[in-house]
Parts: sequence; C-alpha cells; structure tokens
Amino acid sequence: MGQFDGQVVYITGIARGQGRNHAVRFAAEGASIIGMDIAARVADHQTYPTATEDDLAETVRLVEEAGGKILARKGDTRDLAFQEQLVADGFELFGRLDHVVANAGILTWGLTWEQTEEQFTDVIDVNLVGTWKTLKATIPTMRKARNGGSITIISSTAGLKAMPNQASYSASKFALRGLAQSVAKELGPKHIRVNTVHPYAVHTPMGVEDTSAFKSFEDWPEHFPSMMNHYPIASVDDLSDAVLYLAGAKAVTGAEFAIDMGSSKV
Ligand SMILES: NC(=O)c1ccc[n+]([C@@H]2O[C@H](COP(=O)([O-])OP(=O)(O)OC[C@H]3O[C@@H](n4cnc5c(N)ncnc54)[C@H](O)[C@@H]3O)[C@@H](O)[C@H]2O)c1
Repeated sequence: MGQFDGQVVYITGIARGQGRNHAVRFAAEGASIIGMDIAARVADHQTYPTATEDDLAETVRLVEEAGGKILARKGDTRDLAFQEQLVADGFELFGRLDHVVANAGILTWGLTWEQTEEQFTDVIDVNLVGTWKTLKATIPTMRKARNGGSITIISSTAGLKAMPNQASYSASKFALRGLAQSVAKELGPKHIRVNTVHPYAVHTPMGVEDTSAFKSFEDWPEHFPSMMNHYPIASVDDLSDAVLYLAGAKAVTGAEFAIDMGSSKV
C-alpha cells in the first residue's frame, strides 16, 4: 500500500531533475501523474543544457516502471490553454486531481543592470506568470474533484534571501511566496493547503551544469559569500522527501520549507 494510492498529482517540468523525481516518487507511492514539460530550449539566454523529448519519454518510462500511470505532454507553462486542456484530459482519464506541484522554472545570471530585457522578462514569465497559470488551470478542477488536497510551489533559497547576479530569478522566487500566501488564505476554507519549497544547489542540470554561474563572480568576488552553504549539494530525493511530506502533511499550509543546507541563514 502506498501513501498516495488512487490519488492524482499534476506536476510541471517533469522531463528531468526535481520534477522527474517527484513524478517517480509519487508514482511509487500509488499516485497517477499528469505531467508536462517544454522539453526544448526555454529561452535564448539559457546557459545550461536543455531538456529534450527523450528526457520526457524517459520520465514516462520511469513512472511506469515505478508502477504508476501517467499522462505526459510536451508544452509550456506560459500557455494557459495548453495547461487547461491537459488538466481537463487528465481529469477525464483519472477522475480526480488531489495535488499540484508547480515545479517548472528557469535561471539566468548577471548583474541587475547588465541583464538583457529578455533575461528579466523571460524569467518572470516562466517562474511567476507560468506558475500562476498552473494554479489557474488546476484549482477549479481540484475544487470540483474533492474537498482537500495540496499545492506545492517550488521557489528557491533565492526567494528567501536575495542573491547577487540573480535579480530576475530572486524577484520571481520572492513573488512566488506572495502568490502562495494569497492562495493559501483563499483555499484554506476548502481544505486545500498551499506551501512553498525553497531549495538551494540541487544536483540537476540547472544546479550543477550552468557554465555562466561562476563567471558572474569573477569581477565581483565580494558577492561570493552570499552563495555559501553548509554542505555541497542536495539530491533530488532530498527535495522529493519535502514535496511528498507537504502533500501528506494535513496540518501544514502557508509554510515556507527551506531545503537549503542552511544557506538562507548565512
Ligand atoms: N537546481 C537547483 O539548484 C535549484 C535551486 C533552487 C530552486 N530550484 C528550482 O527547482 C525547480 C526545478 O529545477 P531543477 O533543478 O529540476 O532544474 P532543471 O532545469 O533540471 O529542470 C527544470 C525542468 O523544467 C522544465 N521547464 C522549464 N521551463 C518550462 C516551461 N516554461 N514550461 C514547461 N517546462 C519548463 C525544463 O525543461 C526542465 O525539464 C525550478 O523551479 C528551479 O528554479 C532549483
């Protein structure tokens, strides 16, 4: 028997990294997955590898290997109609929607005044507006499906303490806290809980394969201490442990859950 037997989870950004691992871990606990990923270049300024359609297919294989059912599609969180159609089709297939994990996100580096207009607006569009579209696409169906459930929004340590060289990213991840707090208050009476998770340095392509990450500090080494953490890196399972906990934590809403090796405290 699994912790989420018979339940359905909608997850964005499932082709790889944290999103893939959340999908596999929920499936191993008995859940069915409705998942999506752009599986292509998100923005021209992206300086870490792009997720591919093969990555998305591999997630489907891994979820099925874990014993789960999955409806997975290639698409963009910035496309509200796409997300609404996927949720509708997933609901028709599985008959319910219990949990949402708004995980898709992008990162770009550069001093505030040196970032291009695209570096600023693309990150806000994906991380903030795309996440709001995920909520808009899913909440009406969650409410129709049953009374209760959870929404977990993946913010960042950069949403708890501002990071140098990450102005657009920090702004987007701080904003997600405001979004989550509003929705937590709105949905509390309907027993739908809303929480944010704040990772730091996770072992994913975004976390460890970004060629521009340390270049940003070459001219301004004074900025580097802001990036210190207590241990080198978190695993995707460390993050899935938190996400699955929050999905099952009946007394937890409006929480900001730092999985950051203490980095938000230094
Ligand atoms: N890796 C880290 O160190 C770290 C630290 C703090 C927060 N985070 C956050 O964790 C979340 C997951 O990141 P990750 O580490 O797994 O990164 P990742 O880049 O490995 O995976 C992100 C996935 O999201 C997808 N995606 C991005 N934009 C999308 C869009 N507009 N529509 C659909 N799919 C899209 C990508 O294709 C990719 O498969 C993100 O929100 C990220 O900001 C990551």
